[in-house]
Amino acid sequence: MSRRFSVERVQEQLTTRFLGRKMYYEETVDSTNLRIRELAKAQAPAGTLYGAEVQTAGRGRRGRSWHTPAGEALAMSFLLYPDCAPDRASMLSLVAGLGVAQGCQELGIPVQVKWPNDVVLSGKKLCGILTEMQADPEKIHFVVVGIGINVNLKEIPEELQQVATSLYQETGREWERETVMACALNHIEKNYEIFQQTADLSGLQKEYESFLVNCGRQVRIEAGKDSFTGTAMGINPMGELLVKREDGSVCPVCAGEVSVRGLYGYV
Ligand code: BTN
Repeated sequence: MSRRFSVERVQEQLTTRFLGRKMYYEETVDSTNLRIRELAKAQAPAGTLYGAEVQTAGRGRRGRSWHTPAGEALAMSFLLYPDCAPDRASMLSLVAGLGVAQGCQELGIPVQVKWPNDVVLSGKKLCGILTEMQADPEKIHFVVVGIGINVNLKEIPEELQQVATSLYQETGREWERETVMACALNHIEKNYEIFQQTADLSGLQKEYESFLVNCGRQVRIEAGKDSFTGTAMGINPMGELLVKREDGSVCPVCAGEVSVRGLYGYV
């Protein structure tokens, strides 16, 4: 079914006030995050979205690359000007990850969230999010939220098969990418408005935890010499993962550069 992506088809399913109302969609770009950065420098309006069929330099977290096969995936980035301090911007990854999860749930797909922001299906990664910011120490200039969703991928590269999946692989059918995109954006905007009321996750914490695959599980926090193992309990209003150590103390873990692994695999 790999037909041309239709921006009109997304827009007719959007219920957002500003998110995705201005949308660019190209066949091939370097990275949609980079395209949004350029638009931010030209003062594009909040919610401006850039999508692409193929990214030649798609970027993931921690310097990894991100693969976007033509006609099968969703790669999109959007622009925000949040009214909060720079140290709050990383919470927008959780706001977006939750929105993708809620959008998938609305479509009947039983996804979960792996802290901080991977959306997972059957214990494997379905969606990744890369949030980038330009800011002074005191003030955010703009935030770019980039989202990659493995929608209709028929094959996952061999080296990723243990950890990554697609909607097609888990459900055995193709999904309309425009519907998946619109559902996610509708939820992300609602979450963003809740986030903006308090500049933290207090209004989204319970909903986020209802999707959290790590809850009650043993996790390994990889942070170089400060790595440790414990049981994930949930998140706090700052979006930090609460991990109970063996001595009973509960340690809040900040997303930053740490990586979280299940003791027996990806989740
Ligand atoms: C991760 O490592 O999990 C984050 C992956 C983020 C990929 C998306 S695809 C759209 C946007 N453009 C990029 O270059 N990266 C993000």
